[in-house]
Amino acid sequence: MIEIKELVVKYKSSKGEVYAVDGLNLEIDSGLIFGLVGESGSGKTTLGLSLLRILPPTAIIESGNVLISGTDVTKLKESEMRKWRGKKISMVFQGAMNSLNPLMTVEEQVAEPLIIHENMDKDQALLRAKENLENVGLGENILKRYPHELSGGMKQRVVIAMAIIEHPSLLIADEPTTALDVVTQHRIMKLFRRLKDEFGVTIILISHDLPIVAEVADKVAIMYGGKMSEVGDAKEVVTQSKHPYTQGLIRSIPDPRSTKVIRGISGEPVSLMNPPKGCRFYDRCSQRRDLCKTYDYKPAILENRHLVYCNLFEERMA
Ligand SMILES: Nc1ncnc2c1ncn2[C@@H]1O[C@H](COP(=O)(O)OP(=O)(O)O)[C@@H](O)[C@H]1O
Ligand code: SF4
Ligand SMILES: [Mg+2]
Repeated sequence: MIEIKELVVKYKSSKGEVYAVDGLNLEIDSGLIFGLVGESGSGKTTLGLSLLRILPPTAIIESGNVLISGTDVTKLKESEMRKWRGKKISMVFQGAMNSLNPLMTVEEQVAEPLIIHENMDKDQALLRAKENLENVGLGENILKRYPHELSGGMKQRVVIAMAIIEHPSLLIADEPTTALDVVTQHRIMKLFRRLKDEFGVTIILISHDLPIVAEVADKVAIMYGGKMSEVGDAKEVVTQSKHPYTQGLIRSIPDPRSTKVIRGISGEPVSLMNPPKGCRFYDRCSQRRDLCKTYDYKPAILENRHLVYCNLFEERMA
């Protein structure tokens, strides 16, 4: 189980401080596919990188805790944290499929972490690479190929094979389907479901694309402006969304059977440089009230551990 408590992560820049994750609370049960969804710039990647503590040098975890199976990773020494990366927690980085080494064959790239991190001899590592590539649906014919000889979907599978080679119990996949065609997106989602079912990996699926995540996720958390908006059972959040931001996201999904004009969310994403004190969604919310200017981000807890961070539900707070 992962418990994120009051996490604050900021970037320092010449223009000021950006609070990319700002007082965020979240619980993620083991053995699930957990979708983390929100528009670009909402802090999803920063949250993912914080779990592995591989933030860029300009970022700091200012406060809060991240407990993974009871251990607070914000408190671990860097030498301890290094033992966790790859083995306990692993990540498929945003855009990683485009940064495969063009000079290495698929089998060499996948085997490399085993040779470097686990001092495995080359033949054994290549064998493990082959097994792992099979696990992500790639056969022997791929082993000696170079990245430029692969389709986008194949490259993404290679990257996933690399991420799971040390058998992590938690896999964070950041925008793993972006830039892939729709059919390939569905196939990659099926692969995540298989990894969860066959290997029991907990998967945090980060994406701006709610429908694709909802296809496989057990639970979803909708993030806006460095904070949570709504968390719950994936199907429930999609079919019975309560938060005005989630409702806006759902209205923005095109319906292939309809020619109706899509009503997206008007306005610009909130700036995280000087974010407003109250609800982050205030400027764009069609249901805002005056009291939302001082909203303090305690969620309303509905049935089924469905959490809604919005004043409209305050009266139902547990
Ligand atoms: N290296 C960085 N330096 C300064 N600001 C950054 C950096 N990386 C991200 N940010 C800012 O942090 C916020 C959250 O970014 P990010 O975590 O990448 O969001 P997402 O993954 O949801 O698109 C954005 O406002 C972004 O501009
Ligand atoms: S708290 Fe207010 S401004 Fe924020 S989403 Fe709810 S109704 Fe809209
Ligand atoms: Mg991102």
